[in-house]
Amino acid sequence: MSTPDSPDPVIRLAGVTKRFGTTTALKGADLEVARGEIVVLLGLSGSGKSTLLRHLDGLETPTSGAVEVLGSSVPALKGKALRALRSRVGFIFQQFELVPSLTVLENVLTGSLSAVRGPRLGLWGYAKDAKLRALGHLERVGLLERAYQRSDTLSGGQQQRVAIARALMQRPEILLADEPVASLDPESSDQVMALIREIAADQGLTVVCSLHQVDLAISWADRIVGLRHGEVVLNTPTRDLSKAEVMEIYGRVATTTADLTAVAHELIEQGIATPATAASTGTAVAAGPVATGARA
Ligand SMILES: Nc1ncnc2c1ncn2[C@@H]1O[C@H](COP(=O)(O)OP(=O)(O)OP(=O)(O)O)[C@@H](O)[C@H]1O
Ligand SMILES: [Mg+2]
Repeated sequence: MSTPDSPDPVIRLAGVTKRFGTTTALKGADLEVARGEIVVLLGLSGSGKSTLLRHLDGLETPTSGAVEVLGSSVPALKGKALRALRSRVGFIFQQFELVPSLTVLENVLTGSLSAVRGPRLGLWGYAKDAKLRALGHLERVGLLERAYQRSDTLSGGQQQRVAIARALMQRPEILLADEPVASLDPESSDQVMALIREIAADQGLTVVCSLHQVDLAISWADRIVGLRHGEVVLNTPTRDLSKAEVMEIYGRVATTTADLTAVAHELIEQGIATPATAASTGTAVAAGPVATGARA
């Protein structure tokens, strides 16, 4: 297996700081990801996970520091060179971002748009080989029989699988996923995450994925990178990580009382802790009912 110290990382962030006005979203973040590695970014809301991911395909440029992806310095890329990099980096999002009125197949085909330049009108705008590839990807994600259905008639889990098929149309080398299962129920979440892992293994994809679910991160990733207020505070392989260490890990992404309360609520929601164990580890829960549903 590849290691974080690989001499030839496909992703390298060095001392990346990103400020939005007075907000520092990333603070001297360092990260290396080797080809084929599966890395989860873990951290509380506002810790910088999305901002970090967005630097990897040039949706953000750093205030200072270096961002290298697939051998290129991303902030230096413009125009055609930036589009070329983006075609090698697939991105999936919490809200799937499908076009609701289009069929499943048409949505998947839009993943090849950077290659065909400009929007197509209906299926006839696409080459036959693109349609065959799209159908192949739909089969891979288990939705071939839905190809001609409107995408807004699918369940959330199915829609995310369509989004995965769409990302595969680019033949990406890297797959970025920003909380891909935050809108899904636990069963669909497990299916979608398992699918991403299988496809990544089949195709040798490198994956960087932000997640909120600690136990899912531990069972799924090769390595967990913890962010706290824009700083990388944890970078550890999951191989030898036990569930007992979960509390410790998530505790380390929190500093303030408000953070600790949020951590405790999340751990209780996920069934990892009870109010009593949360209190005994310092992740005390404020009085009153446990917040629910915010991330369900
Ligand atoms: N375009 C922007 N303009 C101003 N502030 C921003 C912008 N993007 C992010 N931020 C701020 O940067 C910080 C990090 O945000 P980011 O979205 O990366 O966090 P996150 O870890 O993805 O959070 P969440 O779990 O809620 O998605 C936050 O304080 C956020 O408000
Ligand atoms: Mg985010």
